Amino acid sequence: MKVLVTGNQGMIGSVIEATLKTERFEVIGFDLADGDDIRNLDSVRDAASGCDFIVHLAALLGYSDETAEDIMHTNLLGTWHVLLAAAHAKVKRIIFFSSVDVLGIFKGERTPDYLPLDDNHPCYPKTTYGISKYLAEEMCRLFTNSTGISTICLRPPGVFDEDVYNYIRSRRQAEPEFEWKPFW
Ligand SMILES: NC(=O)c1ccc[n+]([C@@H]2O[C@H](COP(=O)([O-])OP(=O)(O)OC[C@H]3O[C@@H](n4cnc5c(N)ncnc54)[C@H](O)[C@@H]3O)[C@@H](O)[C@H]2O)c1
Repeated sequence: MKVLVTGNQGMIGSVIEATLKTERFEVIGFDLADGDDIRNLDSVRDAASGCDFIVHLAALLGYSDETAEDIMHTNLLGTWHVLLAAAHAKVKRIIFFSSVDVLGIFKGERTPDYLPLDDNHPCYPKTTYGISKYLAEEMCRLFTNSTGISTICLRPPGVFDEDVYNYIRSRRQAEPEFEWKPFW
């Protein structure tokens, strides 16, 4: 089975690529770090050709040096290109890495309507990043309705590397409430 992994050079994508290879999938990587750009439909289409599945992670995460235009261009138009390429290649399924930021509650923007959170909780994204992921999820839903190709949208709340975990551990020891302030 052949899988296209966009964003395979990133923190999560590199782990997914290694895991898929362990499971004997053939992985086609697609990352700007290697010169492959999801904003270019033709190159996404070429990469998806012959693939059975797509794991779509390539995105801008809304860091301060990224403009709203860049985020929308990469996250929304890029996802659209992935979907078009998936239809062209007739893949079986697309796994899309959305974000918990679609909910618009995780950084204290508002309190949840109810707990525990579930997939039916309404979304109130306010940041460009959160809105881009929310709209990309909607694109996936409409794409599945029109093509019958399955899309699964995941909403990770926070995936960190060892340095960040170490920072969180040391801050938690010094000041247990730091994780909730200034947000909740
Ligand atoms: N890390 C988290 O806590 C977290 C939480 C929720 C959702 N996510 C989502 O998971 C996915 C992966 O996140 P990550 O933490 O590994 O981020 P990352 O920044 O480490 O990886 C993103 C990858 O996408 C690539 N990329 C960016 N623009 C591109 C383009 N135009 N064309 C091709 N590749 C491009 C980058 O080069 C990078 O390798 C993202 O979609 C992100 O929104 C991450």
